[in-house]
Amino acid sequence: MSSYDWLNTEYAAIEQAGLRRHLRTVMTAPTGTINLDGRDVVLLGSNNYLGLSTHPQVIAAAVEATQTFGTGASGSRLISGNSELYTTLETNLAKTKGTEAALVFSSGYAANTSIIPVLAGEDDLILSDALNHASIIDGCRLSRATKKVYRHCDAEHLKILLSESTTFRRKLIVTDSVFSMDGDIASLPDICDLAAQHNAMVLVDDAHGFGVLGKDGSGTVSHFGLEGQEIIQMGTLSKAVGALGGYIAGSRTLIEMLINQARGFIFTTGLPPATLAAANAALDVIRSSPELQQRLFSHAKHLKTALIDLGYTVLPSETQILAVLLGNPQRATRVAETLLTEGIYAPAIRPPAVPSGTSRLRLTVMATHTEAEIQKAIAGFAKAKDL
Ligand SMILES: Cc1ncc(COP(=O)(O)O)c(C=O)c1O
Repeated sequence: MSSYDWLNTEYAAIEQAGLRRHLRTVMTAPTGTINLDGRDVVLLGSNNYLGLSTHPQVIAAAVEATQTFGTGASGSRLISGNSELYTTLETNLAKTKGTEAALVFSSGYAANTSIIPVLAGEDDLILSDALNHASIIDGCRLSRATKKVYRHCDAEHLKILLSESTTFRRKLIVTDSVFSMDGDIASLPDICDLAAQHNAMVLVDDAHGFGVLGKDGSGTVSHFGLEGQEIIQMGTLSKAVGALGGYIAGSRTLIEMLINQARGFIFTTGLPPATLAAANAALDVIRSSPELQQRLFSHAKHLKTALIDLGYTVLPSETQILAVLLGNPQRATRVAETLLTEGIYAPAIRPPAVPSGTSRLRLTVMATHTEAEIQKAIAGFAKAKDL
C-alpha cells in the first residue's frame, strides 16, 4: 500500500472513459505534411496557420538574434531580461493593433492568468462566455472576483446578467474572439454596446483571430471595424505568428499597471531573443502578405464544404478552425485513429477540453497546405465516414 496508489486508480478511470491523452512525437517542422511517430501524415492540427514558423525571413531573424543576444533572456524582464528586442516587438504589436502600447508575456496562458486578476478582484464581477479558453477560466479563478458565465455567444443572456448586477465595484466582460474549439466568432459589436451601456470593461482573447482576420491580419477588432473602441486586446504569438508568447494591447496606463502588478509578468524569465525576433519578423510578413490569409480561408472553405458533402456535422465556422462533431470520446478517438492509418493527423478533442457529448475532431488548415494535401485529407475522411 502506497500513498500514491490513487494515481493508478484515477489513471485507470481516465482510460476506461476513453479520455486518456498521450504524447505523440513530431520529427519534422510543422508544415502541411509532418513525420509523426515515424509516419508521414497530412497535418490538420497545427496553429501555425500561416506557416510562418518556417518562413525564411522569420528563421533568419531568429538566427541573427541568437548570434547577437545568445539563447536565453537570463532574467525576468524587471531585473535583467528586458532586451531591446522586446521594445521593437511591443512597438510593432501596438502599431498592428492600433493601441497606445503593448506588453509581451511568456505565453498566452500567462497573459490571461496575469491580466484578469489585475482588472478584477474580490469586489468585482466577471462575465465570461461559456466556451472561453481554459486560460481565461483560470485567470478568473485567480482573480477571486465573482464570475457569471453567459451562454455561448448569447448577447441576450449577457444583457440579462449585466442588468441583474448593479452592486459590483467594476465589471469585466471577457471572451475569446475566435473560439478555439469551435471556430465561430464572438459578436464583439454587441458585446461592446452592452459594455458601454453597463459601464463594463471588455477583454478580448484574439489568440485565433490575430494574423488571420481584419485589416493586414491585425485581428478581430479590425474585422468588426471596432478600432478606436476601449477594448483590451489579448493575443498570442504562438499561433499565426508561429513563435511563442502572449501579449496585451491597450492603453499606456493599463500596460504600466501590468508591469507593476501582473504576477505572470513579474515572476518569470523573459522570452529567448530568437523568439522575440522571430515574432517581430513574422508581424512584418503578415502585414505584407495578404495572400496568406486568402489561401488559408480558401482551404478552410474547400475542406468544410467537402466534409459537409460527405455527411459530417461541421459546426458553423467562418474561420480556419473546423470542428467535426462526433459525440462520444470513443468515436472521436476511433475516427482519429482511422484517419491516422490513412496518413491524416486530425486530433480528437474530448472532455474536459470540450463539453461532454461534443467530442470532435478539431481541424485546422494552414495557408501552406497544398491542394494535394487538402484532397488527401478529404479522401481519408471519405473512408472514415461510417465509423
Ligand atoms: C483562445 C486561447 N487563448 C489562450 C491560449 C494560450 O496561448 P498560449 O498557447 O500562447 O499559451 C490559447 C492556446 O491554446 C487559446 O486557444
